[in-house]
Amino acid sequence: MVKKFDTRLVQTGRAGTKAHGYVNPKLVRGSTVLYPDVATKLALGTRRLEQIELYGLYGTETHFALERAITEIEGGSHCQIVGSGLAACIMPLLAYLKAGEHLLVPDSVYGPTRTFCDTTLVRFGVTTTYYDPMANEAEITALLQPNSRVLFTESPGSHTFEVQDIPMLARVAHARGIKVFMDNTWGIYHFQPFAHGVDVSIQALTKYVGGHSDLIMGSVTVNSESDWAWLRKGMLELGQYASPDDCWLALRGLRTLGLRLRAQYAAGLEIANWLAARDEVARVLHPALPSCPGHEFFKRDFTGGGGLFGVVFQPQYSAAAVVAMIDALQLFGIGASWGGYESLVLPTGGTIARSAGTGVYEGEVARFHIGLEDVGDLIADIEQALAALRAG
Ligand SMILES: Cc1ncc(COP(=O)(O)O)c(C=O)c1O
Repeated sequence: MVKKFDTRLVQTGRAGTKAHGYVNPKLVRGSTVLYPDVATKLALGTRRLEQIELYGLYGTETHFALERAITEIEGGSHCQIVGSGLAACIMPLLAYLKAGEHLLVPDSVYGPTRTFCDTTLVRFGVTTTYYDPMANEAEITALLQPNSRVLFTESPGSHTFEVQDIPMLARVAHARGIKVFMDNTWGIYHFQPFAHGVDVSIQALTKYVGGHSDLIMGSVTVNSESDWAWLRKGMLELGQYASPDDCWLALRGLRTLGLRLRAQYAAGLEIANWLAARDEVARVLHPALPSCPGHEFFKRDFTGGGGLFGVVFQPQYSAAAVVAMIDALQLFGIGASWGGYESLVLPTGGTIARSAGTGVYEGEVARFHIGLEDVGDLIADIEQALAALRAG
């Protein structure tokens, strides 16, 4: 029987409906693992690529349950849980790249990933070229170098939501033996990375998988034994770990992921369309709206999304007016880490670091994250706050 996604979300990472025992995987905390004799320890010690309890750092039953679940959501073969979404972005870069090599990174990448490329990777002799996330085949090909090893993607882009043509980028990269990494946090299961040519898929589980703004965690998933060997070896050498308590919480969050995302995507779209019709708004940067760069790739490659999008205000409204509007909102928290059940807003103008000439807008920009509150209440709140924008 081919199971639908919601059914798989309920079943994944568990012992199964017919197994004797509690519904949820055990929360196992541990550092040392005991072996019955030396021969067993020596024999098992060589099996670090497998999900076997060998030592706390290599994972417990709780980690493995979450890793199996994320592997299934992403449609991959193996997954490694790490301590944060940022660690999930940077650890595979350390695992794959060496001095003298080059990588390409979209100009719209999550800011701290850019900082890592510009600082630590520079110290280790790896160079980065930032590219327009909307670059076409000829433009991206022109940026490749003989020593290019990784093409990093993030789709949609942080803050500005450009949707990338991942299959085209993968075709160009693979023709030259270059690996394609993707920060797939926004799309989660609505974008199947490996079916579109990605080699290494990254999730900040902190966001929609956790879903309750109470944990920090990331995952890196691959879809081949050879990529797994690279990744796992690198991760073990780098001492990557996440708390089993947080893994357990992430598994709990995951059970309602489908429901939450459906509700937040629908409410987000309703609010995005409402904002797009307002005189104060120049355009809305929501992948599902034609006003968003790469909307055609969203329609082709995604099956849905979440509740995070950007708004560009008309040029006559100053940064101070946007701040006054945000301060006037009653139901939206002012905060960065999206994906929780609660609505958030941030002014993004002035905080967007760019070096390839992208991210230039006609007016001030803000980012909205739509939670599980009543959508009518949220719209009423934005409507009253827009008075502060007009007055500002
Ligand atoms: C797209 C994206 N990737 C990665 C991260 C990093 O996640 P974490 O906060 O778990 O380090 C974030 C956090 O905002 C993000 O928005």
